[in-house]
Amino acid sequence: MPPKPTVPEHIAVIMDGNGRWAKERGLPRREGHRAGAESVRECVEACKQLGVKYLTLYAFSSENWSRPADEVSALMNLLERFLEQKAEEMMKQNVRLRAIGHLDRLPEKTRNKLRDAMARTADNTAMTLVLALSYGSREEITEAARAMVHEAVEGRLVPGDVTPELVASHLYTADLPDPDLLIRTSGELRVSNFLLWQISYSEIVIYKKFWPDFKQADLFAAVEEYQARHRRFGGL
Ligand code: FPP
Repeated sequence: MPPKPTVPEHIAVIMDGNGRWAKERGLPRREGHRAGAESVRECVEACKQLGVKYLTLYAFSSENWSRPADEVSALMNLLERFLEQKAEEMMKQNVRLRAIGHLDRLPEKTRNKLRDAMARTADNTAMTLVLALSYGSREEITEAARAMVHEAVEGRLVPGDVTPELVASHLYTADLPDPDLLIRTSGELRVSNFLLWQISYSEIVIYKKFWPDFKQADLFAAVEEYQARHRRFGGL
């Protein structure tokens, strides 16, 4: 019998194309983000069904702060509504919420709602939904380097202690496994400062369609493609 295909333990997603989806329909960009939030729901549900343990979504990058103020505020409002409305559902589904990124930069109201939803779902065990918010991988690695230099200055670290494991333990993702599968929508062939350290060995699946058009069937298809690939981690 062929071996049972493994379900990725951790899927990471670059949700791209909300703005273009809206433009194609003559709608304001915030409508694209609103439709994108619906795809988030579909994606979480599909991962839960498959038994994926971790799902990390790139919801707001460090670079996104440079968008017009009304778009940033529409995204923060959407996130707040998502946190309010979905906390109950996450409890029912036994989903734990986590966040990675420079969370201090988020508006206080958003941060409070995020903190409440994370506290409420902290003991859930079926799946972990990780929202990358005000996240940038270079900033994350820089912060890790800064923390290690501090430890060295205080005499708690010598150069020989610095290993890949030590670096990983200083990242926001210290307690998360690396993503097995990275999905990006809207056809762009870039990783856009997302989990640069953590995706070293991830399989990448790119979709041409825009994020609001990404449905459960697309998630299932991406996992099938992942299962069809032979992961060698640099070996034979
Ligand atoms: C990229 O599309 C998407 C974002 C910058 C934000 C992602 C946000 C959501 C999917 C909605 C809210 C999320 C949650 C978790 C409730 P883009 O605006 O860069 O699209 P474009 O490249 O076509 O302009």
